[in-house]
Amino acid sequence: MRYGILTAMPSEFSLLRGALKGARSETILGVEYFTGMIGRHEVILAICGIGKVNAALRAQTMLLRFAPDALINVGVAGGCAPGLRPLDLILADRVCQHDVDTTPLGDAPGFVSTVNTVFFHADEALLKGLARAGEALELNPIVATVASGDQFVASAEKKAELCRVFGASAAEMEAGAIAQAAYVAGLPFAVIRSISDSDTEGNARMEFETFVQLAADRAAGLLLRFFGEK
Ligand code: ADE
Repeated sequence: MRYGILTAMPSEFSLLRGALKGARSETILGVEYFTGMIGRHEVILAICGIGKVNAALRAQTMLLRFAPDALINVGVAGGCAPGLRPLDLILADRVCQHDVDTTPLGDAPGFVSTVNTVFFHADEALLKGLARAGEALELNPIVATVASGDQFVASAEKKAELCRVFGASAAEMEAGAIAQAAYVAGLPFAVIRSISDSDTEGNARMEFETFVQLAADRAAGLLLRFFGEK
């Protein structure tokens, strides 16, 4: 099984890059794709950039050039569900794109035309394997819905809306695009996100800056355990 792994930011990438053995790299349209081994697994790693368009472009390029068997998105997220705290770990059982809105045409919120779905479902076997890795590290991963959109979500109102409309526990900005790329290619995907911020009182930036690296390393650490590296 060859895994294609995408992170939005360098902070989410560094631990994985450090674990990559026999790394080779190739730059395509300005983005570097690394191939090599983590544990016994062949992987392709790339920093896709922030937001759904960046993520979709780089996921599709990765699929076409390197033909992975599955895509995994790893990184940080904002907590939406009450009670979520920085460093909590989320494994997505499904992902949606909360900012896609053709409701005036009669569609459900988040309905992605062309593929005609609201939710993209993570691969059950991958999810089980990742959950086992999280439990082995005593990280108590939470299996939940993750909502993607091209915005940093920090208000109580928006978080409540994502919970109510999509049943989302966490918000981030790439997973929905990566999930769609995998879906179109008929490939399994998984999403690992650790909470970097959950504040709704105007302190989200400070919280994010405090926790982003710790949260990123938690999410990446879970994946390394899955690969048998930790
Ligand atoms: N990534 C990390 N925190 C986030 C937030 N609050 N909203 C969107 N993406 C995020």
